[in-house]
Amino acid sequence: MTVLVFLDPMFPEGRIADAAVPQLRATDLGATRGDGIFESMLAVDGAPRKMTAHLDRMESSALALDLELPARETWERAVATALAELTIREGTGEAVVKLLLTRGVEGADAPTAWVAASPAPAGARERTARGLDVLLLDRGYDSTVAERAPWLLLGAKTLSYAVNMAALRYAKANGADDVIFTSSDGKVLEGPTSSVILAVQEDGQKMLLTPELESGILPGTTQRALFDAAEAAGWARGYGPLEPAHLMEADAVWLVSSIRLLAPVTSIDGTPISSSPALTEELTELLRAAL
Ligand SMILES: Cc1ncc(COP(=O)(O)O)c(C=O)c1O
Repeated sequence: MTVLVFLDPMFPEGRIADAAVPQLRATDLGATRGDGIFESMLAVDGAPRKMTAHLDRMESSALALDLELPARETWERAVATALAELTIREGTGEAVVKLLLTRGVEGADAPTAWVAASPAPAGARERTARGLDVLLLDRGYDSTVAERAPWLLLGAKTLSYAVNMAALRYAKANGADDVIFTSSDGKVLEGPTSSVILAVQEDGQKMLLTPELESGILPGTTQRALFDAAEAAGWARGYGPLEPAHLMEADAVWLVSSIRLLAPVTSIDGTPISSSPALTEELTELLRAAL
């Protein structure tokens, strides 16, 4: 059951639409060219998590694509409408809330914007908590291309996710669960739908590491929230460049994202790596408390 709420100037709180019947024009550039942006966020018992961080990132994605973004309050009201309606239909619990914006119908000069809220998939987090077998896959760009070639939109959350989905299918067809992309110059980047975080100990100091944003990755809102919470709890934080050897030698590696939170990686390219249920629990608790 998905609740759709379109952003519509005639409806200040958003216009609820039936998800079971067609709602988009077939000439919408989001559908014909993947020309648009989105956000996926978690809501718990009707309350969105990290909404400000998601709206901030949507603003930078819109800037990168030169898209006109409706005002924040309009998104906030549409999200509230969608979550209230979802609660009526499905009761409380965890929900996935997507914010979507396309360049609009071909020839028209107005973006299409809507919110889609649905119950979080049951058991998905428990399944990934058991550990992920991950493949390292070459994304084919070097780690400095993002700045040189902004038209690649590497740090934006665009609707063109077919490549990311193809990478996940490739992993599944080859007996793995997920993917960590590497750059053509051998740096660790991100997962198709997640950020990469690893834990190390240096002279007794616990430290979290993640690839540097300049390498053309999406700035993860979960990674950021986790780093802030961990730092407040005495962890040190650091940023790449990271190479596959760092993953193999870390105390633990996770793929993190808004819906799945921390998913521990247990093998890379078929080689088991160190993992730590205790660290996963500690950091998940820190993250939950921060959210
Ligand atoms: C490519 C990519 N990197 C990282 C993330 C993690 O972002 P967040 O923690 O904000 O969900 C996502 C989330 O979908 C993603 O698609």
